[in-house]
Amino acid sequence: MKRKLLGTVLSVAMVASMLVGCGGGSAAPANDAADAPKEEAAATEAAATEAAADTAKEEKAETPAAAGGAGGKVGVAMPTKDLQRWNQDGLNMEAQLKEAGYDVDLQYASNDIATQVSQIENMISSGAQVLVVASIDGDSLGTVLAQAKEANIPVIAYDRLIMNSDAVSYYATFDNYMVGTKQGEYIKEKLDLDNAAGPFNLEIFTGDPGDNNARFFYGGAIDVLKPYIDEGKLVVKSGQVDFDNVATANWATEAAQSRMDAIISANYADGTKLDAVLCSNDSTALGVTNSLEANYTGEWPIITGQDCDVANVKNMIADKQSMSIFKDTRDLAAKTVEMVDAIMKGSEAPVNDTETYDNGTGVIPSYLCEPVFADKSNYKELLIDSGYYTEEDLK
Ligand code: BGC
Repeated sequence: MKRKLLGTVLSVAMVASMLVGCGGGSAAPANDAADAPKEEAAATEAAATEAAADTAKEEKAETPAAAGGAGGKVGVAMPTKDLQRWNQDGLNMEAQLKEAGYDVDLQYASNDIATQVSQIENMISSGAQVLVVASIDGDSLGTVLAQAKEANIPVIAYDRLIMNSDAVSYYATFDNYMVGTKQGEYIKEKLDLDNAAGPFNLEIFTGDPGDNNARFFYGGAIDVLKPYIDEGKLVVKSGQVDFDNVATANWATEAAQSRMDAIISANYADGTKLDAVLCSNDSTALGVTNSLEANYTGEWPIITGQDCDVANVKNMIADKQSMSIFKDTRDLAAKTVEMVDAIMKGSEAPVNDTETYDNGTGVIPSYLCEPVFADKSNYKELLIDSGYYTEEDLK
């Protein structure tokens, strides 16, 4: 009876939260790419797990670590300072949490898993009441988060889903599948794949295999492009198409660059034209661009990206990168702060997706913000007029 009532309240709260904030993010469609088993699992198990997820959510909502008003300590664990976006995420989270009246313990782990684990241990032992964690490797936090659960400290997975841990209460992110779809659609439209004869040459770069997001980005894009690869209109000369073959450890620019160096020397050094490079994010796009500048003499290809990092926006302005996806980290921070605040006050956190993100222990109630397409034609409006960057930043 109690469950039923709570379920109804949750549904109303969920619908309400879908109508506001973060550009009204939408649920990612199920992904049927051959290399996206987690997405498939989420889709096929969604119906069966929905009820369980609702139940889990009710229980989580009923047991906040520290009910009662603003104030208290929030631990924020970020992966690395190496990439611009995480610096922005951290600063936004810190500023917005402080403004809401919380103490913040913000830590960066230099992309080192052991460092992140020990930082989270310290947050637990020094009295954090909620943890916000952007994981380095989604599969490596099970043990430390079991300690958080034991101490009744709710965990919000930030941007990247934490896998195989039942300590995760909520997930705040962008619609990661939609990011990939937008990148794939861009290549499809620019090459006019439905009408042009082709064939066109494509190469593919995605992210770290330990980052669940990478599979969603790849899955969204490959679902758009795979039919054209299958019919031979898109040719991947390197033969590297499957997720494992196109992954980039740690999303490292240098790794993408050296893989591109090898691909060019084996396939494009003789003047063969490369038409497009699908890059899941800006750090990989930067590596690809650096490699092309050093080694490739043909007509410049279409290059996709994500994050609107300063170096990449500069490359867009200089026609070296075609597009990026803008994920306004201020919005993600704001939504996460709402979640923290709701947990602290013992009320219901905002979510707009209870189907897509199964972390292996069940579906994690999520809020998906909406990613936005950015290119040379709209970057001023998106990035400068909104105060994300100054003109000076992009010079
Ligand atoms: C984020 C991307 C970012 C990548 C590398 C992903 O989890 O969603 O925005 O580019 O990590 O840091």
